[in-house]
Amino acid sequence: MCGIAGYNGKQKAAPILIDSLKRLEYRGYDSAGIAVFDNTSIKVYKDKGKIAELEKGLPDITGSVGIGHTRWATHGRPDKVNAHPHTSGDIAVVHNGIIENYQTLKERLVHSGYTFVSETDTEVLAHLINHYYRNNLKEAVMSALKDVTGSYAVAVLRGTEMVAARKDSPLVVGLGSGENFIASDIPAVLKYTRNFILMDNMELACVYPDEVLFFDINNKPVEKAVTIIDWDMEAAEKSGYDHFMLKEIHEQPVSIHGAFAGRISELEGNIIFEDMGLSGEQVKEISRISVIACGTSLNAGLFGKYLFEHLAGIHVDVEIASEFRYAHSPPGSLVIAISQSGETADTLAALRQAKSYGSGTIAVTNVIGGTITREVDCVVYTRSGPEIGVAATKTFTSQLIVLYLLALYFGKLNGKISTDKIKRMISSLKKIPAQVTRILENREVVRECAENFASSNDFFFIGRTFNYPIALEGALKLKEISYIHAEGYAAGELKHGPLALISGKTPVVAIATRGLTYDKVVSNIKEVKARDAPVIAIADENDIEIEKYVDMVIRVPAADEILSPLLSTVVVQLLSYYVARERNCSIDQPRNLAKSVTVE
Ligand code: M6R
Repeated sequence: MCGIAGYNGKQKAAPILIDSLKRLEYRGYDSAGIAVFDNTSIKVYKDKGKIAELEKGLPDITGSVGIGHTRWATHGRPDKVNAHPHTSGDIAVVHNGIIENYQTLKERLVHSGYTFVSETDTEVLAHLINHYYRNNLKEAVMSALKDVTGSYAVAVLRGTEMVAARKDSPLVVGLGSGENFIASDIPAVLKYTRNFILMDNMELACVYPDEVLFFDINNKPVEKAVTIIDWDMEAAEKSGYDHFMLKEIHEQPVSIHGAFAGRISELEGNIIFEDMGLSGEQVKEISRISVIACGTSLNAGLFGKYLFEHLAGIHVDVEIASEFRYAHSPPGSLVIAISQSGETADTLAALRQAKSYGSGTIAVTNVIGGTITREVDCVVYTRSGPEIGVAATKTFTSQLIVLYLLALYFGKLNGKISTDKIKRMISSLKKIPAQVTRILENREVVRECAENFASSNDFFFIGRTFNYPIALEGALKLKEISYIHAEGYAAGELKHGPLALISGKTPVVAIATRGLTYDKVVSNIKEVKARDAPVIAIADENDIEIEKYVDMVIRVPAADEILSPLLSTVVVQLLSYYVARERNCSIDQPRNLAKSVTVE
């Protein structure tokens, strides 16, 4: 995920920008750059690769105002031309987020005579600000941002003037003495100040050496409170959360949005995967897809099976990668390899095996340039930003989103789903980030539940259809970080064996959100209740009836049946986290596990 740094003061800006960018390295990036006003003009230095390399090639730059950026490629390859800052005339811009309507804006700007050199959405912003500039940088930025659909944190430099703004992408202002800073997050500039102003959506900041003025998007001044940060550096990297896992769970409203931003058009009922280049005829020829993955990614793959079969009418086999590589039958004509790290040895071996049969290949991954990306025909990035906790959380929900979009895309191309239905599904999808935020705001209920059951030795998670993969994921998460034995089951399968294990000592988490199989799940809840199991139901917020049958209800906003598993996922993640915390486990680095498993 990209990072932004900015400085306006009395010291040389370049070393401070480089230092701040280095502190943002943990977010992951593939190129970096800075722009500094050296009292004559803006000088831009940028390249692909590491910040240390960029730093080596820098001359002595005298200016004391500048902006910097680490880029995690979304629009366009990770190379020098696409690296930020981008310029238009004497204006330089760095940007995080995605400008969803950049194509339309680009056409408009090209028509007005602007020439584009990069493939990025950000360059549109630079030209747009230039286009609106009439001796007032702040007003030009406001006008430009009003034309933009999408998310942004942006820093703009013209001469000694610096303007920053944000919408759905983080940005903070650090206050110094005779110098001020901007950054994507607090740790980037914590070395220089402990006084911060946290920018809210649709706000702009004019950053001068001696003051910072805040405005809303309509140019109305805004009063901001100063937050004094007393974290040490380690706590700062976790943005004040006790663990990376909790931080990453809380990042999901943003990461989920990032996974679909720029890939949907609600107006046209379209899913946009420009790089895929598949025709309707080619998609019609796909009669079977094989998904290969491990662990959490495998659970995402199973969710993908329900999606592709339901929305695109394409049969899907979900293969455990470490088993598939020894299979003797050919995979489907299309193979989707899912791996957040892009380095999992089992998945790579299975992928190579699949390729030997001549199947087409798509990777769904989070890490740009990972080995897997170099071995497939097409890559779809989940764009979750770096995930530090070993237990996958935000990368899993982003995988679910990407698979949802792919299923809709294929369903549209092969004529299995109407444009109107896609419009409705996009509309439901767009509500998910806000619904996840509501669950996170109600996390106390989940914490209480965890407190009640943290001493259990065994857990069951049950769900049907779209919720079955989430039951598996809930059990996997709990096992990984709390070391409690947990089983995920298709709710209807319990009576075929595992019911023998159910007793008053085995809490059952039942995903019982409304949908096709709701009544059947309620029957399964009654089965385990009859064996004295304590039942925790994850249910819709308006489902009063369920309270009669269970011991605790954790409520989620009512959502489309196909999308509500995303909401239940956040609940099972929080539950695992709080149980592990009650048991004093090493949450971010569970025993015996690694973030990237590069051995078979
Ligand atoms: O990087 P990958 O998605 O390929 O990793 C696969 C599994 O190793 C991974 O999902 C593992 O199960 C995680 N620790 C889950 O939290």
